[in-house]
Amino acid sequence: MSKKPVKKINFVERIREKLPALLVLAVVVGGVLVFIYQSTNQAGSAALVDVKVPALSAIGTQGKTAFAKNCAQCHGDNAAGGQGGPPLIHKIYNPGHHADGAFWLAMQRGVSQHHWRFGNMPPQPQVGEDVAKAIIAYVRELQAANGISYQPHRMN
Ligand code: HEC
Repeated sequence: MSKKPVKKINFVERIREKLPALLVLAVVVGGVLVFIYQSTNQAGSAALVDVKVPALSAIGTQGKTAFAKNCAQCHGDNAAGGQGGPPLIHKIYNPGHHADGAFWLAMQRGVSQHHWRFGNMPPQPQVGEDVAKAIIAYVRELQAANGISYQPHRMN
């Protein structure tokens, strides 16, 4: 009595046969997803932190426009950080550690590299006092909406 060869390939074997194709597919799909993700993150402003943008006041809205024009090329959209500068929506820039006056001085005089490794910030003399106020209001509104609040400055 001869045993008939079993022709039926079971399910596991089928999967095993297709495995290389499935792997290739997974890699391709993964690559496409990564690409889509990166291209939705605007070029040039690889945000360093996640910033939630709240409903802005009138002055905050003016500040947003001025920030985009004068600061975002380094500090990123919504001050989330970029290739040329740090996120300002960061606890070290809370109003207790960098008061509004420090923001004004940064714009007037520039900043020597000290907290980060982005190099120096050049002065921004094109930004007048009113525009600076609006920018500061905007940054403070973003900070508040992202849980960054006044922390007393400790000298230690
Ligand atoms: C050419 C790039 C560049 C531009 C443009 C720029 N910044 Fe900066 N900024 C930096 C860098 C880099 C630092 C971080 C210096 C450090 O602490 O190492 C910085 C730091 C700061 C600080 C912290 C100051 C401190 O005392 O530590 C503030 C506030 C600031 N920037 C605000 C602004 C505002 C507001 C604008 C737009 C009017 C602006 N920056 C435009 C690069 C830039």
